[in-house]
Amino acid sequence: MAKASFQNIKSLKKRNIGIVAITAYDASFAKYFDNLGFDIILIGDSLGEVIKGQKNTHNVSLENMIYHSQAVRRAVKNSYLISDLPRESSLNKQTACRDAKRIISECKINMIKIECNKNNIDVVEYLVKNKIPICCHLGLTPQLISQKNSFRKYGKSPKEFSSIIKIAQTIEEIGVKMILIECVTDLLAKELRKIINVPIIGIGSGKSCDGQILVSYDILGISYNSIPKLVEKKYFKIKDFESRIKKYIYNTKNFL
Ligand code: KIV
Repeated sequence: MAKASFQNIKSLKKRNIGIVAITAYDASFAKYFDNLGFDIILIGDSLGEVIKGQKNTHNVSLENMIYHSQAVRRAVKNSYLISDLPRESSLNKQTACRDAKRIISECKINMIKIECNKNNIDVVEYLVKNKIPICCHLGLTPQLISQKNSFRKYGKSPKEFSSIIKIAQTIEEIGVKMILIECVTDLLAKELRKIINVPIIGIGSGKSCDGQILVSYDILGISYNSIPKLVEKKYFKIKDFESRIKKYIYNTKNFL
């Protein structure tokens, strides 16, 4: 696999080869996934749940993100590295920018992911203006929600469908480099891929994205909180971990 570069990610999109991504939080898993050829490794704030044993991602700190991003960085030679901006950093432009710069400089990762809805587009714009490579996370945005019933499919109603399309178009114009969509309808994912030019990575959003991402502990089947149904159905019949991971890579690379 080519050494991590955004050019490489874009070229996979251009050639219709699925971009395969996974989360990691420590050096051993990161090295293992890097060696298997994952295009992207995300140091996700899902670490709040799977590592810290919390109910959600809300209390993940900047220091947590830096600690885990550094561990992953030490182990990874090839995969493109993205770190989440934690909720506490994302509240206003200045802290978001200061903390994103800290993660990039102290952890040498390639890109920052930030959850985005119509209320914080100004923060995204400020980060891009400050030359921070940004992936925006749309649809189900766990940091920005407080109620249990927010865990659902997004884009079912025409109003929500067009609102997510509008946000995606706006942030693409602003200059974000990648979009992650979580739990949006297949129809919305298809439409986004048609009209948006930056790579779109999906989770629980159907097959038509440019790539897929999964939380590694979910495939392993040992998550602290509940495991999403889509992971259970697809990969749990396969007995060992390595076969599950290889099946996931194969599915993503070949069925776009
Ligand atoms: O933090 C995380 O693990 C995520 C998932 C959507 C992959 O953002």
